[in-house]
Amino acid sequence: MEFRSIKRLEFNAKFVERGGMYSRICSPLFALMFSFLMAPLLGAAPDESPPVSLLSPDGKNSILFELVDGFPEYRVLHDGVAVIDSSPMGFTFKKAGSDLGRMMIAGIEETRADDTWTQVWGEKKEIRNHFNGVIVSLKEAEGPGRALEIEFRAFDDGIAFRYTYPQQGEGDLVIMDELTGFNLAHDGQAWWIGAYQDNRYEYLTTKSAVSDIDVVHTPLTIKSDSGLYLSFHEARLVDFASMTIRRTDGCSLKADLVPWADGDRVKTDGSFTTPWRTLQIAEAPGDLITSYMVLNLNDPCVIDDTSWIQPHKYLGIWWGMHIGKYTFWESPTHGASTANAKEYIDYCARFGIRHLLIEGWNKGWTPAWYENAMHMFSFTQSTDDFDLKTVTDYARQKGVKIIGYHETGSNLINYLKQVDEGMELYRSMGVNDVKIGQVGSRLNMTEWHHGQFGVNYYRQVLKKAARYQLTVNFHEPIKDTGERRTFPNMMSREGARGMEYDAWSEGNPPDHTATIPFTRMLSGPMDFTPGILDVSISQGYEGRDVHTTAAKQLALYVVLFSPIQMLADLPENYDGHPALPLLQDVPVDWEDTRVLNASIGEYVTMARKDRHSDDWYLGSLTNEAPRDIELPLSFIDAGSSYEATVYGDADGISWSQRAAEVIVTRQTVESSNTLVLKLAPGGGAAVRFRKL
Ligand code: NOJ
Repeated sequence: MEFRSIKRLEFNAKFVERGGMYSRICSPLFALMFSFLMAPLLGAAPDESPPVSLLSPDGKNSILFELVDGFPEYRVLHDGVAVIDSSPMGFTFKKAGSDLGRMMIAGIEETRADDTWTQVWGEKKEIRNHFNGVIVSLKEAEGPGRALEIEFRAFDDGIAFRYTYPQQGEGDLVIMDELTGFNLAHDGQAWWIGAYQDNRYEYLTTKSAVSDIDVVHTPLTIKSDSGLYLSFHEARLVDFASMTIRRTDGCSLKADLVPWADGDRVKTDGSFTTPWRTLQIAEAPGDLITSYMVLNLNDPCVIDDTSWIQPHKYLGIWWGMHIGKYTFWESPTHGASTANAKEYIDYCARFGIRHLLIEGWNKGWTPAWYENAMHMFSFTQSTDDFDLKTVTDYARQKGVKIIGYHETGSNLINYLKQVDEGMELYRSMGVNDVKIGQVGSRLNMTEWHHGQFGVNYYRQVLKKAARYQLTVNFHEPIKDTGERRTFPNMMSREGARGMEYDAWSEGNPPDHTATIPFTRMLSGPMDFTPGILDVSISQGYEGRDVHTTAAKQLALYVVLFSPIQMLADLPENYDGHPALPLLQDVPVDWEDTRVLNASIGEYVTMARKDRHSDDWYLGSLTNEAPRDIELPLSFIDAGSSYEATVYGDADGISWSQRAAEVIVTRQTVESSNTLVLKLAPGGGAAVRFRKL
């Protein structure tokens, strides 16, 4: 458990008299802070309040907080290098006279934790939560004397802070702006997706100078000219608007809260706690990937019995609709017919893939289902050619579980009227997992997905699903801010351009999957739906194909973490394929994760250890450039031999030529060996290390 409130330090005479004690009971890391506090400051005027300094446990990350003319500001340094120069903090409110005036520091509370907790599932089993923190209590120096708390935490992998505005009897309070600034000390390269766009996060990542960005989603990833790698995001987004980041001038950025349709940013009852504003700081890009700070800033699991939450791989009646082989709606080529579902269940049983997603089984689908309109899907009535009970009974006999599907079309008025019945129907049929879609540019055609309305909607549905013992896979979600720690039934989500874009658009370019591990994936698991081995999409729309080699598709199972992973291709394309054993074997729940090499947008190699065996798996992928990757195998156990099965690109291929050719080779290796992988342009490789 996190150890909070070591002591409360009030600025009173008693504190100053006992000043000598603090060097004994406080960690040396707080020495700087307390040297300021020792100053004769009682009853200090706002501009005389002392700065507060906080150091991470390894002493590298520091936060300096101070009141400048009575208004809060902070700075961040890493190893003496300025990361964020003095930047403002605070809010503006809607009601006249509500904005806080000049403040003084009324109290300081030191917090600290060093504990380890176990993920129900994840990319690493045991997570260390290690930080030094401080809660600064501010009070208006004049007038009503209203209070505001700012809580800071310094971790070895970054810093975070949040605000708490206590209830002080002012009635409803509407936030119109959050003043938090991120005035970067250096320019740098930024990887970003523009905010306030109709397709939410489903855009390709733009790379530009920080000084050229406009208003962007988080995670915002930056390679600073100082040499550091930074990721701005937020953690524990609950009952608040999502934070996007707007550039105001030069390299000065600020929080930009996604508004309601009426322009309000956050509606409160007079008190609120913001999400954590997070900044991960790394000396190598791979260290952003193995930072668990965002999870650490979320509340522990609130679900007592998590035995029904099962990571899994799945087939789907899905790709067929996206490539035009089947329809979502009733037609002679309807994907979700009882007969087709039985065939897919047979494939699942044969391949040992124990879950099957079925989309389009319910009434309400039309050829124009994706158009922005208040579509009226039913969540209980099957199409005439589909019988849910027959299908779930058949699946049960075959040892397969059906994954339910709710496409809301963003008509939440319609969905929320039926959600209980829809979830109860699944529960009664033994379904434990549901994918929930929110296609549309606005919720109910009015609200941004990322506004407070949307944030509360997704949380409400997630909690409801937990009551029906359903895990959730949100498509068209809001960004992940680590809620899987609190609600581990929050398995995965979309929130980026996934595989489907290769089916019906110009496609995802080869560098897409070399970029998102350092951007989108920092927020949490993604249901990318990899595994297309027929990369030329021979049964699909003319002129569409996948812009990777087939071996790179295999690498994605290791590189793009998700506790649920689809084998997205048509099942007949797996039948007898030499890569099928990898797809059958590759785990979705890991003991540990290592990033072996990385360059944002160019290449990445990751090794993960299976949580339930001694085996390791490795995924390596590249952008358009071919690469020979040399990998010292020091991550596997010294003194043990492993059978390494390499699923790699055939010689001479590329993502646009003979891309489907996968070569499987085997060798015995030890930790002292170096493995060389030859990645084709747009290619990749997956390796299974089986301990002998
Ligand atoms: C978009 C989702 O990303 C996709 O997975 C789903 O099949 C369609 N919407 C239909 O709901």
